[in-house]
Amino acid sequence: MFTNDTLKGRTALVTGGGSGIGLEIATAYARLGASVMIVGRNEERLQAAAEGLAREGGPVQTRKCDVRNYDEVKQAVEATVGRFGSLDILVNSAAGNFVCPTSELSPNGWRTVIDIDLNGTFYGCHAAYPHLKASTHGGSIISIITMLGVTGWPGAAHAASAKGGILSLSRTLAVEWGGDGIRVNTISPGPIGDTEGVRRMYIEAGKGDLEAQKTALGRFGRKEDIANAAVYLASDLGNYVTGENLIVDGGRWLKYVAN
Ligand code: HXC
Repeated sequence: MFTNDTLKGRTALVTGGGSGIGLEIATAYARLGASVMIVGRNEERLQAAAEGLAREGGPVQTRKCDVRNYDEVKQAVEATVGRFGSLDILVNSAAGNFVCPTSELSPNGWRTVIDIDLNGTFYGCHAAYPHLKASTHGGSIISIITMLGVTGWPGAAHAASAKGGILSLSRTLAVEWGGDGIRVNTISPGPIGDTEGVRRMYIEAGKGDLEAQKTALGRFGRKEDIANAAVYLASDLGNYVTGENLIVDGGRWLKYVAN
């Protein structure tokens, strides 16, 4: 639906790009002409992802990186610019969470998820800033959150707080960095049927049909739906959009029914 040159000449760095929604976004970007760096914790997964991405045409690079470590994130950013000559798009897709009642959540469990989701996103934005500012296309930051960070997420206070924090960080940076030509947006996916998170949280728990019915559309989304939103926001099509939270959830949060 997008023309093949929609992202031609741009370089994207995708954290958590070895699997799931991050990989789907990286794939769409490569298909539409971007050079892509994917980073993640699992080298084997990155390698397998890179082989698939190479078939899409664009140049691809991988790098092992734990987003909890600022130095590793900074090195990944520098490696991207070293390999491709610029950085135009940063996608913060790395995430980790688990379900645990707050009263039983250890301080380290809390810290672990905040570190990956919120601190990791801040590290990416901070390390990428000078290069995004120098982008001839105008920089674009896209962070993957969820409306559960707005409505609350019983059993996942750490992830809800991190995602809510990313929303606020993104709106803040949209204003701080707008004058530098950098657009900063978030995407809030709803239940995406072909992801590890939904499989683990809903399908394996026997709640798949129930969760699908909680959306206005009555069905799960696909990773492709999120990738399309990420192409729009990264490209000139979204040139005047910043500080926005693009909700791609089939009307799930409007039809919110507490568990
Ligand atoms: C209680 C837990 C726990 C659990 C870990 N911890 N899992 N506590 N219940 N199920 C606690 C540990 O006991 C420890 O605290 C602390 O968290 C750190 O755990 P580690 O295992 O040492 O951390 P690490 O190996 O770095 O693992 C990170 C992780 C893990 C986030 C905790 O779950 C992970 O790597 N997950 C894989 C990635 C992932 O979650 N992807 C989901 C993305 S999908 P103590 O006190 O014991 O030291 C998604 C979609 C959302 O986000 C869908 C919304 C609709």
